[in-house]
Amino acid sequence: MIQVKDITKSFGSKENSFQVLKGISLDIKDNDYIVLLGASGSGKSTLLNIISGLEKADSGSIMYDGTDIDKLSETELTKFRKDNVGFIFQQYYLLPNLDVEKNVKMGADLAGNKNYCEMIKAVGLGEKLHKYPHELSGGEQQRVSVARALAKKPKILFLDEPTGALDEATGRQVLDYISKLQEQYHFAVVMVTHNNNIAEMAKTVIKMNSGKIVETYTNEAPKTAYEIGW
Ligand SMILES: Nc1ncnc2c1ncn2[C@@H]1O[C@H](COP(=O)(O)OP(=O)(O)OP(=O)(O)O)[C@@H](O)[C@H]1O
Ligand SMILES: [Mg+2]
Repeated sequence: MIQVKDITKSFGSKENSFQVLKGISLDIKDNDYIVLLGASGSGKSTLLNIISGLEKADSGSIMYDGTDIDKLSETELTKFRKDNVGFIFQQYYLLPNLDVEKNVKMGADLAGNKNYCEMIKAVGLGEKLHKYPHELSGGEQQRVSVARALAKKPKILFLDEPTGALDEATGRQVLDYISKLQEQYHFAVVMVTHNNNIAEMAKTVIKMNSGKIVETYTNEAPKTAYEIGW
């Protein structure tokens, strides 16, 4: 589905520039489950932002089902992101003055999906449609953000430390919902995490260090969110 080739990215001015990504290549297949591991500052978030079209690379290409996303206009890129990409962060970024239903509806409206309540039920929040974010636990808020991201039926879901702010029990629960939803809707998952245990849930594990991929391996028998250590 996605071929990432020789991506480089530097930040800073000419004299003071710092190369964050030093030639990254990887493939993301339909229905894939990729976990990206690496020390703080190794470039994981930058890579996720570039693959998802949030940021531009300095060089290299990202082919998405045959389309080079670097060649898209701003308008086309926005449409591409809307049609294809869901994103979940460590922070939930829910709108505080909207209830659960309206927060998820915002994601759904992007794709004209009228059936978004199905997604709220799928993350176990069918009883909490009219609660506001401050009335929910962290795990519940993250499940709302999962429902919001998936309500537009993306082909690929990027997650940057989705369990970073959650305790073990709620972290497992959120990961379990994501796996179950993936079985149902067949999107691909690319997840950045500091929790090495979560790598056991992946089909493919990619390790980064200082802007390079240093190891890639596949798990023959990925574990569930309740089978891994924490
Ligand atoms: N917009 C930016 N401007 C300047 N430097 C940046 C910018 N974004 C990231 N960097 C730098 O690039 C490096 C990699 O950042 P990145 O956020 O990709 O790392 P990371 O692997 O996600 O780290 P963490 O695990 O802490 O989230 C860091 O040294 C960071 O300071
Ligand atoms: Mg990061």
